[in-house]
Amino acid sequence: MEPVYFDHNATTPVDDAVLEAMLPYFQQEFGNASSRHGYGLSARRAIDKARKQVADAVGVQPVQVIFTSGGSEANNLFIRGATDSLKPGNLYISAIEHPCVLKPAQALSRRSCDAWAMHQLAVNASGQVDLEAAGDAMQNHKPGLVAVMLANNETGVIQDVASVAELARSHGAYIHTDAIQGLGKIPVDFSELKVHAMTLSAHKIYGPKGAAALIVDKRLLLKPLIYGGGHENGLRSGTENVPAIVGFGVACELAQARMAETAQHVSLLRNQLEKGLIGMGAVIFGSAAARIPNTCYFALPNIEGDTLVVKLDKAGFAVAAGAACSSVNPGQSHVLNAMQVDPMLARCAVRVSLGRSNTLEQIDDFLRTTQRIVAELKQTSSLSF
Ligand SMILES: Cc1ncc(COP(=O)(O)O)c(C=O)c1O
Repeated sequence: MEPVYFDHNATTPVDDAVLEAMLPYFQQEFGNASSRHGYGLSARRAIDKARKQVADAVGVQPVQVIFTSGGSEANNLFIRGATDSLKPGNLYISAIEHPCVLKPAQALSRRSCDAWAMHQLAVNASGQVDLEAAGDAMQNHKPGLVAVMLANNETGVIQDVASVAELARSHGAYIHTDAIQGLGKIPVDFSELKVHAMTLSAHKIYGPKGAAALIVDKRLLLKPLIYGGGHENGLRSGTENVPAIVGFGVACELAQARMAETAQHVSLLRNQLEKGLIGMGAVIFGSAAARIPNTCYFALPNIEGDTLVVKLDKAGFAVAAGAACSSVNPGQSHVLNAMQVDPMLARCAVRVSLGRSNTLEQIDDFLRTTQRIVAELKQTSSLSF
């Protein structure tokens, strides 16, 4: 039997309709979109169509979409590209950003020739940015740039991006949101969030890996990370990955069309899951806050997360341990750290992130399996860290 996939915040399978739309662009329609002949024009038309599909998903004009090789590149493009074109000042990021926002911001603040100073916006115990503390901090050190993610990849907690944006704008700062984990799970509207830039990625919404976008307001000045032939309005050179971009466009359309139905389905499953886990004594991180409907981040006290993940994998369930999106760098989750979770409990963190094809039977099986594993672990007393 195929293992049950409960790790949709890490990545999702490519939808059949997405794959079907992509396939012609590998062979028959393989042209370079910069070429003037028929092959090139066909590739250009395909990119234009995808640009409109992506733009429509978040309520912007196609010209505002800059395609990149992934969400990581788009986030780096914002941090590096905006700081390079503005007068140096204060860069604020939330303490729970994905490493592809956190690390370029840290790198920037370490470069002595740059006068950019990085500040982290604290979160409360539920994982939400503390707006009052953010307001106070920005009074003391006026922001030039601000980045606050829409939904956290570990906890699923949704941020009040529009309020942070108002705060940032009141100081004349530019604001970015990484909306990768929000797209397709909750409504995402560029204007309503009041941001100047937003990152989206295809592979979290049943699209292919290697396609993403930075959405920009025309008032935001950016310098490219990659110079060359001047693709994407000069902001991201490199021959376009046409099949992946086509897939991204279709995935955006599907995500919009299916959002309400999927949200209802996965919420039902998550409620059942969390009821069962709480019955086993689990702590659910971020459950007091609004969350994207598919994510459950829990800890069973004294059951190490990594151990549980490996045992669940053997038993046929693919889930993630804490700091799962960066599990190439295992260690304590900086998100739980920012939420001031006891480090002993943080070591027990496990993330289940549900998707459209999961079922209630899978949840029930998972709960039974987890209960059995926990009982075995307790018996063999491999509980002490
Ligand atoms: C919130 C968030 N930002 C950025 C990324 C990176 O995106 P990508 O995998 O497209 O580079 C991810 C996923 O890994 C993510 O969950």
